[in-house]
Amino acid sequence: MNGEIAVFCGNANPKLAEDICQNLRIPLGQSIVSRFSDGEIKVKIEENVRGKDVFVIQSTCPPSNDNLMELLILIDALKRASARRITAVTPHYGYARQDRKDQPRVPITAKLVADLIATAGANRLLTMDLHAEQIQGFFNIPVDNLYAVNIFVKYFSKMKITDLCVVSPDVGGIKMARAYAKRLGAELAIVDKRRVSDKEAEVMHIIGKVRDKNIVIVDDVVSTAGTLTEGIIALKERGARDVYAAITHPVLAEPAIERINGSKLKELLVTDTIAIDKDKKCDRINVLSVAPLFAEAITRIHREESVSALFV
Ligand code: R5P
Repeated sequence: MNGEIAVFCGNANPKLAEDICQNLRIPLGQSIVSRFSDGEIKVKIEENVRGKDVFVIQSTCPPSNDNLMELLILIDALKRASARRITAVTPHYGYARQDRKDQPRVPITAKLVADLIATAGANRLLTMDLHAEQIQGFFNIPVDNLYAVNIFVKYFSKMKITDLCVVSPDVGGIKMARAYAKRLGAELAIVDKRRVSDKEAEVMHIIGKVRDKNIVIVDDVVSTAGTLTEGIIALKERGARDVYAAITHPVLAEPAIERINGSKLKELLVTDTIAIDKDKKCDRINVLSVAPLFAEAITRIHREESVSALFV
């Protein structure tokens, strides 16, 4: 019904796109995504996509503006090349944290970006661990939001950590933390965090028992790592034992690596929704791949099968 499947990508994370294609057992589509001499983005789809079911893999992670524009221009090129259906695959959906008007005269970028993607010509969106589930409602096209929880839980289950407590580093993350706690058979605690500035977070209270517990902090994104490292300090002060973290999207903006290296974190598990630059060196970061899960979701979307069935 949807024609042959084809996968393309921009420059955000070509390795992930290759890995997804390997799982799908198809080659990555040929395209040029480069720059004109004035810096504008130059795109050319180098193969026929007429009538095909096309998936464009491109996280809108830093450099967010470049990656977003590459995604939009790729979608435009594919639409004009008569692709039958285009799914924007943003393993990390950036600009998501500005998702409400919580101060006067601020934008809602999560909605703006949703409009841009649909206007460019995407028929669907496939993403993972959206900053807030209700961002799905900002799109007037279908959205499939995947969860990294099973990937992380499989890893932790093998470690057989005793006296485990899952911690949400802020009130907004409680639902996510509860899903982890349920699957790991762990207790749940919540950090009451106040954001002082873009780079600074301050812990006000910890709700729940963390003394003598081994901790797994779960979150959707680690950016400057202020939330994570302030949380670790507060947990240690209250008698927590080993502290691990499972955070889906490793944005790792300055000074995240310095903060993590200087913290008492035992291990930070992240996924490859965002490629980590080689100069960001930290022995305690371990990357788990989402490629098999995205390949399975793409197959199901292509065959018009249930995607939610992946999470029961
Ligand atoms: C906040 O609501 C998010 O879930 C993350 O906790 C936050 O974005 C992390 O940012 P940073 O690492 O800069 O503290």
